[in-house]
Amino acid sequence: MADPQLKVLGVCGSLRKKSFNMAALRAAGELLPAGMALTIARIDDLPMFNQDVLDAGIPEPVRRLRSELAQADGLLIASPEYNFSLTPALKNAIDWASRPPDQPFQDKPVAIFSASLGPLGGARVQYDLRRILTQLWGHVMPRPEVFIGMAPGKFDADGRLTDETTRKFLTDLLAGFRDWIVRMRKP
Ligand SMILES: Cc1cc2nc3c(=O)[nH]c(=O)nc-3n(C[C@H](O)[C@H](O)[C@H](O)COP(=O)(O)O)c2cc1C
Repeated sequence: MADPQLKVLGVCGSLRKKSFNMAALRAAGELLPAGMALTIARIDDLPMFNQDVLDAGIPEPVRRLRSELAQADGLLIASPEYNFSLTPALKNAIDWASRPPDQPFQDKPVAIFSASLGPLGGARVQYDLRRILTQLWGHVMPRPEVFIGMAPGKFDADGRLTDETTRKFLTDLLAGFRDWIVRMRKP
């Protein structure tokens, strides 16, 4: 029997309008295998995490993000590295979503890729993300890894991913992610 439509939530670690990571996430939406659909979440309207704010009542943008995460079959993160690690926007989103009860990373299949100006393609953020999400009991797909280095040369002026090799790497990652979601699914 064919798999039903798998819902993938995309989260981009950059808030920049012309973000290469957001452009690559949009490209991923076009390269998904059959049976998957991508929705991209907003994280730019989350307040900065503060326990006092949470204690006063969960802010609406946080409630929305947590609900989107909870309903997704898989989480796809595209992010640059800032100073060899997570961007503040992405860490803030993860911190908000991570608070109990019912933290939505529990048993969630996750795939990660990164783009940056440098030749390593933001590799270091991926390992920090794996460490963080694994301790939240997320199931982070080990491979394939995709690092989009020297990003400006791989997109056109409209933010379209034009580099064929990168498109192929993303296609392989997404095909692997479909299998990973099915494999990690709760019985
Ligand atoms: C605060 C800051 C720190 C950065 N640190 C790194 C870094 O550690 N490694 C890297 O490859 N690029 C770094 N960059 C450059 C990013 O790769 C570049 O800004 C990239 O375009 C960000 O991704 P985006 O296009 O999705 O916004 C940094 C940029 C900023 C603003």
